Amino acid sequence: MATSPSLVFYPILFLLLVVPCYAADPDPLQDFCVADLNSSASVNGFPCKPSSEVTSGDFFFDGFTKEGNTRNIFRASVTPGNVLSFPGLNTLGISMNRVDFAPGGLNPPHSHPRATETGVVVQGKLLVGFVTTSNVFYSKEVGPGEMFVIPRGLVHFQRNIGEGKAQAFTAFNSHFPGTVLAASTLFAATPTVPNEVLTQAFQVDENVVNQIKSKFGS
Ligand code: GLV
Ligand code: MN
Repeated sequence: MATSPSLVFYPILFLLLVVPCYAADPDPLQDFCVADLNSSASVNGFPCKPSSEVTSGDFFFDGFTKEGNTRNIFRASVTPGNVLSFPGLNTLGISMNRVDFAPGGLNPPHSHPRATETGVVVQGKLLVGFVTTSNVFYSKEVGPGEMFVIPRGLVHFQRNIGEGKAQAFTAFNSHFPGTVLAASTLFAATPTVPNEVLTQAFQVDENVVNQIKSKFGS
């Protein structure tokens, strides 16, 4: 019996359309590709340094051993362990951050265009929240040993709501997830986003826009 072309064509079309949606970074084509951050070659990612120059040190990172400096307006600090600080992650589709919070500290609303984020609180208590594309806000108080997930690209934050310091580790399915910080993206871009755009978008007077811009150094 002949198979109808639609029985073959539509499932294949479906797979072609849907499978890439699950992908984050592309799969590596070799065991490793330690990033050569000094290369002038321009590719989607970073070129590999010659394997003759790769050492054990390329696969270890001690950047999370120290607490981040939380003496800033948000009283929080994100220490990235991504391909830029840890070149051994190049092409492996994975990275982490250490996030430190002073009491009341906030990791302000932001999103990661290239990764889903998961995290675990190791000290203190955080309010973790994100907003969906349908404008639904999901949040929960999260304590030591508890884990959370932020779907790719959605705006999210963490705020220290405990008495003392808080600390979390986050992980991403990208070696370079990217971070779009909501406030500084709009109010501290270079060149600056025109005031008319911001007054109209937020339905506020120009002095409010200028006040926010001045807080973010633009
Ligand atoms: C937390 O949201 C982080 O991006 O590390
Ligand atoms: Mn994040």
